[in-house]
Amino acid sequence: MEPGTSTGCSARTLAACVIGGIVLGASVLALHLAGPAAIPSLPPLDALRRRLRRRRRRPVRVYMDGCFDMMHYGHCNALRQARALGDELIVGVISDDEIKANKGPPVTPLHERMIMVRAVKWVDDVIPDAPYAITEEFMNKLFTEYNIDYIIHGDDPCLLPDGTDAYALAKKAGRYKQIKRTEGVSTTDIVGRMLLCVRERSSSDAHNHSSLQRQFSSGHGQKVDDSGSGSGTRVSHFLPTSRRIVQFSNSRGPGPDSRIVYIDGAFDLFHAGHVEILRLARELGDFLLVGIHTDQTISSTRGRHRPIMNLHERSLSVLACRYVDEVIIGAPWDVSKDMITTFNISSVVHGTIAENMDFMEDDSNPYAVPIAMGIYCRLESPLDITTSTIIRRIVANHEAYQKRNEKKEASEKKYYESKSFVNGE
Ligand SMILES: *[C@@H]1O[C@H](CO)[C@@H](O)[C@H](O)[C@H]1NC(C)=O
Ligand SMILES: *[C@@H]1O[C@H](CO)[C@@H](O)[C@H](O)[C@H]1NC(C)=O
Repeated sequence: MEPGTSTGCSARTLAACVIGGIVLGASVLALHLAGPAAIPSLPPLDALRRRLRRRRRRPVRVYMDGCFDMMHYGHCNALRQARALGDELIVGVISDDEIKANKGPPVTPLHERMIMVRAVKWVDDVIPDAPYAITEEFMNKLFTEYNIDYIIHGDDPCLLPDGTDAYALAKKAGRYKQIKRTEGVSTTDIVGRMLLCVRERSSSDAHNHSSLQRQFSSGHGQKVDDSGSGSGTRVSHFLPTSRRIVQFSNSRGPGPDSRIVYIDGAFDLFHAGHVEILRLARELGDFLLVGIHTDQTISSTRGRHRPIMNLHERSLSVLACRYVDEVIIGAPWDVSKDMITTFNISSVVHGTIAENMDFMEDDSNPYAVPIAMGIYCRLESPLDITTSTIIRRIVANHEAYQKRNEKKEASEKKYYESKSFVNGE
């Protein structure tokens, strides 16, 4: 087609539009002049009302329960999927006593588990001390008191000690919906990563907890067998995809006048202490940017057994937190002038509780630039918990966990042997 013809063509179309516009304008004018008699040609009032009612309908409330012990991104992904089945997600957090009776002692007590679950950005409300098995009485309470429409659970079978299905009642009531199990990690797997080091030591040494703790915290222990031989727990099934990162991300960047706060760290075994310092850091500005250190940085500062969770796993845990707006996946150790300019960072914060604050005394203080600029801020950590605290709790109880893990490992193994296609949800 010649350029000339093309222009002519679009000019003709334009002319038709203009004429059409005038015609339309004229008919609207005619409607106005005609007055109330013209109303029947507008959308019927009934339809408008119906549309409004639909928009104002009661939100669909869904319920999901769990132990959420040593919460990881797999739990967060389950909560994300559950939330997508309704408008509001209410989460029941199972009591310490019920966990102890059914699975053995939890690593994190109820108040820490509550902080973790509440901080997940897809959770609207939490119910503490939920029962391990949903009884008829508790189910009715969910329906009448909490206005729950559906009870959600993963597609892995959840059997009670007597072999019955824990969700049989909800299924019978027709109020049960299922989500896909998240591939990649389980609490059993994480505990396994830590216990592997314990098992590899000689049995006399294995009972020496103080030496084990030192091994984890200083990195002078024996080499970890990364092949996973003899354990099956070291093998990670986690394959980070770009879709998962998008699902966990907030789509919005900072607004034009936002005060951007920066905090960095390992965020290994993401715990209630992390959540609490992130909450305070977010309150200092309008946008919280979290720098997550690389696996290599952490190994060189905390020892070769660290981190327990790799960079992508740690990034997802932090991204799921409602106080976090954005993360840098693999942040530099030093906070440079260039970085502060690039991200328009207005304050750089650090909690008072950390694994190691020795670097503050070094000549190579990573916060030297923000300190010199007067934008460094030390925040009082609300909770006295570090990643080492969590590891210490597991090591101190490692025999109980080992027994529980062996049982779980067998069922995990069976799952992975029999599993079929799993989509990215
Ligand atoms: C535990 O290990 C440390 C260092 O390896 C050693 O000094 C200590 O005597 C050990 N304690 C026991 C009870 O074996
Ligand atoms: C940079 O941050 C400050 C607040 O600290 C804000 O007032 C300013 O508008 C931001 N600059 C840009 C270009 O967004």
